[in-house]
Amino acid sequence: MASIEVDVSAIRPGQQVIFKWRGHPLFVRRRTAKEVAEARAVPPSDLPDGLARNANLTDTAPATDANRTIKPEWLVVVGVCTHLGCTPTVSTPQSPQGSYGGWLCHCHGSEYDTAGRIRKGPAPQNLAVPPYAFTGPTKIKIG
Ligand code: FES
Repeated sequence: MASIEVDVSAIRPGQQVIFKWRGHPLFVRRRTAKEVAEARAVPPSDLPDGLARNANLTDTAPATDANRTIKPEWLVVVGVCTHLGCTPTVSTPQSPQGSYGGWLCHCHGSEYDTAGRIRKGPAPQNLAVPPYAFTGPTKIKIG
């Protein structure tokens, strides 16, 4: 399967850029310290989906914030709602989407947090973390 390498050096804290990977949107979000802190404060027991869904870890890894990223500042997830496949809209301070600071899927109201974990709504799983690795300080190879 095809892999891509992306340069994320132009992404500012709090900003998301969407790339395309294997025919799907791929969200790369540079999280602020506040967003990381909010995600880390959530106990996995509070989460509807307790699994990390991170292709870089084992299938049973818990959905802690640490298990959702390689570097805390950078969240890399497939931008496909795990309900029926719509593309969720990113939340920003200027344009809040949902109650958890992450993404809102407008199709049926699923809300994701700043770690891309499902928090409310019909989506059954956290946004998928694809296989990826840093090939430089701001270069990421996905797939
Ligand atoms: Fe996202 Fe249904 S497709 S909530």
